This record gives sequence, C-alpha cells and structure tokens, in this order.
Amino acid sequence: MTGGAHCQDDLLEIVYTEPEIAQAIECMAEAIGRDYRRQPLVLLGVLKGAQCLTADLTRALIRIPDGPSPITVDFAGLSSYGGSHRSSGKIRLEKDIEVNIGGQNVVIVEDIIEGGLTLRHFQTLCSRRHPRSLRSCVLLDKPYNRRVDVTVHYVGLTVPDAFIVGYGLDYQEKYRNLPYLAKLRSQVFSE
Ligand code: IMP
Ligand code: MG
Repeated sequence: MTGGAHCQDDLLEIVYTEPEIAQAIECMAEAIGRDYRRQPLVLLGVLKGAQCLTADLTRALIRIPDGPSPITVDFAGLSSYGGSHRSSGKIRLEKDIEVNIGGQNVVIVEDIIEGGLTLRHFQTLCSRRHPRSLRSCVLLDKPYNRRVDVTVHYVGLTVPDAFIVGYGLDYQEKYRNLPYLAKLRSQVFSE
C-alpha cells in the first residue's frame, strides 16, 4: 500500500470526486444519446488519457433509452507532452484506429483539452477518412491557454489552470489509476 500513500503526497487537492465525474459522464451520455437515437455510432478513445472515460461512457450510453446502437469502440494513441508537463505542440500518432470510419457517425472521446492542438490534429485525421458525421466529447476543459479554435460538442467539467492527474490522466505515466481528479503539486514537476 506504500505506493498509494506515496502518490497522495504528490497531490495538492482533489478537484472532482468519483461521484462528480460519474455524474458529468451521465450528462454527456444523455446528450450523445439524444443526438444519435437508435443510430450506429463509433466512439474513438484517445489513449492513454481517455481510457477510463471511454470505458465509463460506453457503459453509460447503454443505459440511455433509445440511445445509439450498435456502438463500436476503437482507440487511437496520440502523444503531445513527451514526458513534460507542458504540451510540446508536436503531436505524434503512436497508434492508428483499426475500424473504417468512412460513412459512419463518429464521436472522438478525449480526456482533456488545453491548447487544442491534440484534438484538432485528431479531428483533421478523422475527417480525411470521410465519416458521415464527426463530433468530439471531452471530459475536462482547461480553457485558459487555447492555441487553436476547436469545436467540442460535449464537455464534462471545467478544471482550474493547474496540472491535473487521475482518472486516466498522468504525469510521466503515473497517477492514471486514481479514481478521482486532483491537482498535482508543482514541486513534483519542477524536481
Ligand atoms: P492540448 O493539445 O494542449 O489541448 O493538450 C491536450 C493533451 O495534453 C491531452 O490529451 C492530455 O494528454 C494532455 N494534458 C493537457 N493538460 C493536462 C493536465 O492537466 N494533466 C494531464 N494531461 C494533460
Ligand atoms: Mg489525451
């Protein structure tokens, strides 16, 4: 258990609790459910940050009466931080999706948007494959340092201008397993 206790020393405060995250996901699922009633839908999760969100959102959508159906799930791997706490602005596609999204309704599922470059990069990549429709769902909006204009159709929660970890979000591959969202102490990334 020392790993968990040690990890908590690196955190400043909890920003959103497990129930608050769950409620935000229910709200997004309801909105998506209304927009794609009984229609086939492809959800594209962006690894690794959106792993928890994608898993919970797909199951929340199942509970929406007359929601989208069938639902297909796939993942892309994108990286922008390169181990630092600031986005490098250079986005790399580490892993491509495997499903053919041509002619399909597609919703991109992303953990957090800050500058917007990562999401815009993936939106461009997807739209080149001619989906029938393309929307984006983001759990966390950090609207303070937007560098490009990106349309996000479904937003869960707004976070403060701090480095956030937990619920899939990492710092140097750690903290993804926290069930809540927390601010990371700035000493951790200045060490
Ligand atoms: P953007 O390209 O600046 O919008 O950055 C988006 C990507 O940076 C996300 O997919 C995350 O992987 C990462 N990111 C941005 N802010 C945070 C944060 O506070 N904690 C962890 N990862 C973050
Ligand atoms: Mg991400």
